[in-house]
Amino acid sequence: MSKPIIFIACDTTSTKKVRKIIKESQNSKIKFGYKFGLEFLNSKNGRKFIYSLKNKITFGDYKLADIPNTCASTIKAVKDLKLNYITIHISSGLKAIQAAKKVAGSIKLIGVTILTSLDKKSLKEIGFNKEIKKLVLHQAKLAARAKLDAIVCSPHEIKIVRKVFKKEIITPGIRFANEKKGDQKRVMSPKQAIQNGATALVMGRSIIVGNIKNNIKKLIKELN
Ligand code: C5P
Repeated sequence: MSKPIIFIACDTTSTKKVRKIIKESQNSKIKFGYKFGLEFLNSKNGRKFIYSLKNKITFGDYKLADIPNTCASTIKAVKDLKLNYITIHISSGLKAIQAAKKVAGSIKLIGVTILTSLDKKSLKEIGFNKEIKKLVLHQAKLAARAKLDAIVCSPHEIKIVRKVFKKEIITPGIRFANEKKGDQKRVMSPKQAIQNGATALVMGRSIIVGNIKNNIKKLIKELN
């Protein structure tokens, strides 16, 4: 099995901060990638910055949730950024994820299942009455059917997803022991998530808030 990638969520509008994150995460012990979410992607200089990045593993967290034509057109519109990964919500429907996959080319298309910020109660509020694990399993099957390249789920669902999805499994909802969950609900430690079979983790605040170098040292210590 290849070394898991740790995607640092560059959740900021500041290119200066992203430069700092990249600089301080250069090391030989961990394979880092950089995830850009809606905050950075929509910031004034975000797009230009990503365009200028060289030799980095990049992840555009667009979380597309739209009709097939719009999902496909959006992917075409951002192809010049040469991102390695792009996300789409599986709840956009089978037709939409198939249409997106059709135009993605060498970009790995990641299907997002149920957000890690949702729990049973919050899902019920939006009319989802199925158990979380069952919902995620259902969506993972759909992702396999559409031949997506990766799935995003919480670390708690990795084992169940693995039964039906053989490619990459990427998990946000990562927290060090005793760390605040914040708005995340279904969380796990980095070590445990990798032991459960995650091929990549997404870590935001645990790395980028406070002293980045020290946070990375803590991660290296936990994983090695
Ligand atoms: O700071 P934290 O580690 O909670 O950040 C998690 C990152 O992963 C955020 O950028 C968030 O948008 C993203 N994400 C998530 N849950 C998903 C998909 C993506 O938290 N299901």
